[in-house]
Amino acid sequence: MKKTHILGSILFAFFAIGNSAQAQIYNPFAEAKANAFVDSLMSKMTLDEKIGQLNLPSVGFDVTGPVLSKDVEAKIARGEVGGVFNTFTPIAVRKLQERAIKETRLGIPLLLGYDVIHGHRTIFPIPLGLSATWNLGLIEQSASVAAKEATADGLNWTFSPMVDIARDPRWGRVSEGAGEDPYLGSRISEAMVWGYQGKNIENLSKQNDKLMACVKHFALYGGAEAGRDYNTVDMSLYKMYNDYLPPYKAAINAGVATVMTSFNDINGMPATCNEDLIQGILRKEWGFKGMVVTDYTAINELENHGMGIGKTVAARSIKAGAEMDMVGELYLLHLEYLFAENPEYLKYIDRACKNILLSKYRLGLFSDPYRGLDEKNQSVMLSVEHLQSAQKAAEESFVLLKNENQVLPLKPMSKVAFIGPHIKRKRDLIGSWSGAGDWKKSVSIWDALTSTGSTVKAENIKYAEGCNLLEDLELIAKLNPHDGQIESPKDSKKLLKEAMAVAKKSEVIVVAVGETFGMSGEAASRSNIHLPVHQVEMIKSLHTLGKPIVLVLMNGRPLVLTDVLPYCSAILECWFPGTQAGPAIVNTLYGKNNPSGKITMTFPQNEGQIPIYYNSRTTGRPFDNNQKYTSKYLDVSNEPLFPFGFGLSYSNFEYSNLTAETKGTSVVLTAEIKNISQIDGQEVVQFYASDLEATYTRPKKQLVGFEKVTLKAGESKKVTVNVEQSQLGYYDQKGEWFFEPGIFRFSVGGSSQTTLNKELKVLMTFKPHVTPEF
Ligand code: NOJ
Repeated sequence: MKKTHILGSILFAFFAIGNSAQAQIYNPFAEAKANAFVDSLMSKMTLDEKIGQLNLPSVGFDVTGPVLSKDVEAKIARGEVGGVFNTFTPIAVRKLQERAIKETRLGIPLLLGYDVIHGHRTIFPIPLGLSATWNLGLIEQSASVAAKEATADGLNWTFSPMVDIARDPRWGRVSEGAGEDPYLGSRISEAMVWGYQGKNIENLSKQNDKLMACVKHFALYGGAEAGRDYNTVDMSLYKMYNDYLPPYKAAINAGVATVMTSFNDINGMPATCNEDLIQGILRKEWGFKGMVVTDYTAINELENHGMGIGKTVAARSIKAGAEMDMVGELYLLHLEYLFAENPEYLKYIDRACKNILLSKYRLGLFSDPYRGLDEKNQSVMLSVEHLQSAQKAAEESFVLLKNENQVLPLKPMSKVAFIGPHIKRKRDLIGSWSGAGDWKKSVSIWDALTSTGSTVKAENIKYAEGCNLLEDLELIAKLNPHDGQIESPKDSKKLLKEAMAVAKKSEVIVVAVGETFGMSGEAASRSNIHLPVHQVEMIKSLHTLGKPIVLVLMNGRPLVLTDVLPYCSAILECWFPGTQAGPAIVNTLYGKNNPSGKITMTFPQNEGQIPIYYNSRTTGRPFDNNQKYTSKYLDVSNEPLFPFGFGLSYSNFEYSNLTAETKGTSVVLTAEIKNISQIDGQEVVQFYASDLEATYTRPKKQLVGFEKVTLKAGESKKVTVNVEQSQLGYYDQKGEWFFEPGIFRFSVGGSSQTTLNKELKVLMTFKPHVTPEF
């Protein structure tokens, strides 16, 4: 096996820093000016004032952690606050900003943060749903719409994108990310950063409708053991560099202004006091120039991690490079004493203060602290344009998992029974973390069916609730104190009876069930990811009527659908679709929208298969039906229920003529795709690579490129992607970059279970300016 192994750390450092995209994005002249301004300001600041800048309390409308900040306004006036989060609207924000500007000695403006996760007032599909669109332009637009609305509400900083790779659907926070794949996750990560900030960080101060993004949770939060939130992470460098770090790095390369440390430990060292992670990887290897914030009370939680108490954990965190202390106030409490004991701490305090002030400078807050705070700007909220964009995103996020006998799209004149709590219930539509979104403004399926513009005739549709969304009283008791908004279960027999009566009179039954919004998201891990038993029972009862059942799902994670699959003719996965849920779903059911979403996380057959993901590594004993001693389970196959990248359409597509050739430093892959149906549609053409001659074991296949194409009925297109050699390299077990010539198998198809293959020997041409793209 021939290989080009770049081991020299000097050379590696050149790759990592010299070529860092952040170094290129930050204009040296603008940066020199920013540095001079901040240095001059800091020369006037007292130690207390510097420490105040490191404090980030929460004040206002939302509670997003177990501890609440106190006396924030008084603290602002005393110069003990660098930024706040959870306050929005021009009036509320102006009040806080005025305190900082008018009442503190130096009048340093505040950062104003908020969790704007998938839209601000206009709510887009949850991020897992957005990722299923595979439409990077649309994803960027969703962040740009969110930025417009959030800045009109006085915010200048969002705690998004969350780019944690997630391969365990038990973890509730899979709903907030882009799924399991590092390549797709990286492309989405940069699209989100560009949507929020714009492509050029130097323009941030001139664009009042853009705000700072914050990539989170650095790092590896998605690797939580057993899928339990906040749990420990233990991971080899090999896996970390190749599979989990790429999306964070992509955000850095896209110019993200801030980074949030994660709650978890990594191989024994919590991220928030992890010097190797923050100073080593983030600053030195990746050349990150922005500011680092902790997650909510993450410094205090180091005490639970056994890292020492109070002063010790504050010391460890500031030294490691956690710069802004979210809610915990341990910096406020201890840094002055730490400095008194050891003056060396001044350098860490200065470093943190400087990065925070530089962020404020880059935002333009020193020239306009009331940036965007104009009541007139409120007209952008839920504008027609924003609603259209959210609806398009919802429509493209839906994944058609099954469509037997083409039961979908529904015929306009069919008699349809719409059954299930998600037909009328609105609260779940905008998901678990919809910031300033008002669920009452969202449109339910029934609203859309019966609205004045609806083309569906009233006499053709009937409704029955059918079942309770949840009946498990213990679960309801856990969710309700945290705003679960789940009503006490009604008489389930009566609900079913009504549903059966309605269904009997129909030709097709549409059942809308799934999770409640609170069953996914933060602190919402589940060990059983089936549909609730009583929902399954209802589907089985309806099935006895012998009519086709269309299952419309709303949920925040891949579910185990094995027990309902045989009873449903069609399954449409809709995630939590956002403000425009109803029209998007109705358009899809009746064929005005042809589904084009593809899942970005594998759906398992049962929980015992977890973790299950398409890009797992090779084994020496792959499954062989004729051999006992091969990698398998005795009670379930190795196959997922639905693989990564899978999703049907009302159209049918045919792939042909895959070619692969080297050209300069890239491999050019082309394939032909034809819409062989009578219906116009969109398809995500996915290209994968498998390294057949590697020094280390490699993924069975990995996504290396994709394009979402629109094809009219009968139309063919040639799709070409350029795969950079750097994408075919990888990191070795020490986290060093590794280029390796050899034979690769390229494949193409409409899911990760590709249909066409082509092998090609790729002679890596070493090119120093080419760094890993992801
Ligand atoms: C805790 C969450 O982990 C994080 O994602 C969020 O940004 C903060 N709370 C602030 O609300």
